[in-house]
Amino acid sequence: MTGFTPPSAMTRTEALAAISARAFETARAEAPGFPHTASPDGEWTMSADGDWTGGFFVGQLWLAARDGADAEAKALATRWALRLTPRVESQTVFRGFLFWYGVVIGLAGDDDERLTDAALAGARALAADRNPHAGLIPLGPAAEEASDVGAGETNIDGVPGTVLLLDWAAAASGDESLRRTALEHASGHRRMCIRDDGGVIQSASFDPSTGALIRRYTHKGYSDDSVWGRAQAWGLLGMTHAAVLDPGEFLDTARAVADWWIERLPADQVARWDFDDPDPAAPIDTSATAIAAAALLKLAALDPRAPGRYRATAESSVDALVRGHVAPPGAGRGAGMLRHGCYNRRIGVAVDDELVWGTYYLTEALASLNGRIDISRI
Ligand code: GLY
Repeated sequence: MTGFTPPSAMTRTEALAAISARAFETARAEAPGFPHTASPDGEWTMSADGDWTGGFFVGQLWLAARDGADAEAKALATRWALRLTPRVESQTVFRGFLFWYGVVIGLAGDDDERLTDAALAGARALAADRNPHAGLIPLGPAAEEASDVGAGETNIDGVPGTVLLLDWAAAASGDESLRRTALEHASGHRRMCIRDDGGVIQSASFDPSTGALIRRYTHKGYSDDSVWGRAQAWGLLGMTHAAVLDPGEFLDTARAVADWWIERLPADQVARWDFDDPDPAAPIDTSATAIAAAALLKLAALDPRAPGRYRATAESSVDALVRGHVAPPGAGRGAGMLRHGCYNRRIGVAVDDELVWGTYYLTEALASLNGRIDISRI
């Protein structure tokens, strides 16, 4: 860890309030673009069009709107969500993140129909990109990654959000093929990215004309056969989302990926950026731990046979993030930020920063632990 946040005595409720206050302040400022990463002093770097992450900031506003049925939160979330609608046209699997978290989790029956139309159009466009041989939706040419994007490349981070978006769209439109696409997408990634021992590799190349796996590798991890922290966390969340659709098919996989995570989580409950980096001073990635904590809470809520340690690990990790890594009120511009995320150590980008998706998943986990949302459906 290159930065340090002194341990704080904040409760979960106080942490949630501080995180929400930061999101509201940012939303009210209405700066162009979308919050993406923030430096240790709290200043946001914005992405112009939402990149792969814009849905997470809007998702934080939706969680706040759900929470207290707060009219300002709903109005802000709607305005920010409308900014995402041009992304229907961008050919990337990350439309799953953008439209699930940025739109669908906020729908409440009295919605601006431009939002439901965009989410449906985004889901249909995603499904149209499916490769029938591999049985999955590839990264696509507009995906965020430094290299290796397109029709024969895929990432485990393309699963979470995407499967729930397609399932929602199937129910909303009556088109059952969208649900089949969601299930095949999850199966295809299980085959390409999840090892027999439950460890997850971020990326795979396949032959688009046959679907045959060519290689497994990583865009952002330590090495092609190491387990990057976020690969494991995204895999856990993705298989848990797939288990919402078909528990008989996906719960065992989600459990195997969860067990792998729990067995290797350090005693301080926060994962290093990559499980196989031999450097004892390797940085942590709080965003990976926030994703995994939210996923473990979902899995515990979904799975009647879930071992108690799924919820217990999630709670310990959330408390470790709150005490050690959330900047408390009084921390100036950074108050409420989740510090010490590691975005991309390979190219040295935002290696000790706030990462908007980490803050989103910590918000989700805290809202669930405080009894304000049913996390099993998000
Ligand atoms: N592209 C997803 C991630 O960096 O976690």
